[in-house]
Amino acid sequence: MLELKELTKVFGSGDDTFVAVDNINLTVEKGQFVVLIGPSGCGKTTTLKMINHLVKKTSGDIIINGKSTSNLDVVELRRDIGYVIQSIGLFPHLNIANNVEIVPKLKKVPKEDRRKRTYELMDLVGLDPDIYAERYPAELSGGQQQRVGVLRALAAEPDLILMDEPFGALDPITRDQLQEEMKDLQQRLNKTIVFVTHDMDEALAMADVIVLMKDGHIVQAASPEEMLRNPANEFVREFIGEDRLAPQPDITPVSDIMVTNPMVVEAKDKPRDVLGRMKKSSTDIAVVTKGSGRRVYGYVTANRIQSQQGKASSVEELVTETVVTVRGNTTVRDAAASLASDTRILVVVDRQNRPVGLVTRAWLLQSLVELWDESSSD
Ligand SMILES: Nc1ncnc2c1ncn2[C@@H]1O[C@H](COP(=O)(O)OP(=O)(O)OP(=O)(O)O)[C@@H](O)[C@H]1O
Ligand SMILES: [Mg+2]
Repeated sequence: MLELKELTKVFGSGDDTFVAVDNINLTVEKGQFVVLIGPSGCGKTTTLKMINHLVKKTSGDIIINGKSTSNLDVVELRRDIGYVIQSIGLFPHLNIANNVEIVPKLKKVPKEDRRKRTYELMDLVGLDPDIYAERYPAELSGGQQQRVGVLRALAAEPDLILMDEPFGALDPITRDQLQEEMKDLQQRLNKTIVFVTHDMDEALAMADVIVLMKDGHIVQAASPEEMLRNPANEFVREFIGEDRLAPQPDITPVSDIMVTNPMVVEAKDKPRDVLGRMKKSSTDIAVVTKGSGRRVYGYVTANRIQSQQGKASSVEELVTETVVTVRGNTTVRDAAASLASDTRILVVVDRQNRPVGLVTRAWLLQSLVELWDESSSD
């Protein structure tokens, strides 16, 4: 969707030049939430502004949907890219509805359609249009104004939205709330977002990909999990902070502690055959799936098969159906919280509810204790 190719910005001229962005390469997929982060002055805003040509690039290229933006009309380009920043804010002399509709109006969207969309968007972020549409920005709280800023960027129906520290000036509670709303909106509307922050917690909470910059370079671009697990170098470690890096039950995913490739059998399989397979692979538990979708149905233990042998014609009759399923990215802590008193195993499943791993109750609780010990030992 968006590609930055050897993108460079040099400010100044003659002897007095400064390389603010140095030959960066980045690919952003459609629907991704990418967060640019790094110390003050590392080139985040400059990178963002080159994307919508608010800052003219020195060299390299910016490609949107496969097309170089070099020769595109700047005005058109900006109308198709949403842009949210803290400091520009809203136009004080326009009421909220008119603020939201600036770009749609420029695009000559008929008034009725515009208004309908504005009301929908306001509802979406919990601003009652009947109360707020006619108000002026000064009559809104900071958090409400910021929501309108986000709406304004969305109202033009852009596929790509650039956000430069949009929640920087808000109190922590409003910020948390807006982060959640923003992430939710982005996923529901499938928008591609490039978001600048210097707050690592914000990056970890929202990003699909974190791009950590330093002195105009990209030091590491990775998912939050990957960055926490494998920081590229000492700078990344330091920037993330040791306390976030220690293995902790509230960030370690169950996929880190699960048994991969558990034995999986089908509900219609014969108990005798399953027992044979269990002996061969020295396991005493198997995940049972049912139907062509290979969805998890329950589990069966060697004990149960042995005690019932002969009576049951298929595994289905012996299955324990009270099985708890979790996704691989569920944290160890959350997985432990989902245990019921009679839960013996958790089956880790993919999006389609197909088994990808297995965690026993005992193993999960032991891991929980170990992770807690590790994270509090220093
Ligand atoms: N118009 C300009 N002329 C000269 N230098 C500039 C200009 N704009 C930015 N710079 C310099 O380029 C570097 C990168 O600036 P940029 O605004 O991209 O930083 P940033 O990563 O967004 O920092 P912050 O977190 O403080 O917002 C800085 O050293 C800045 O001083
Ligand atoms: Mg900046």
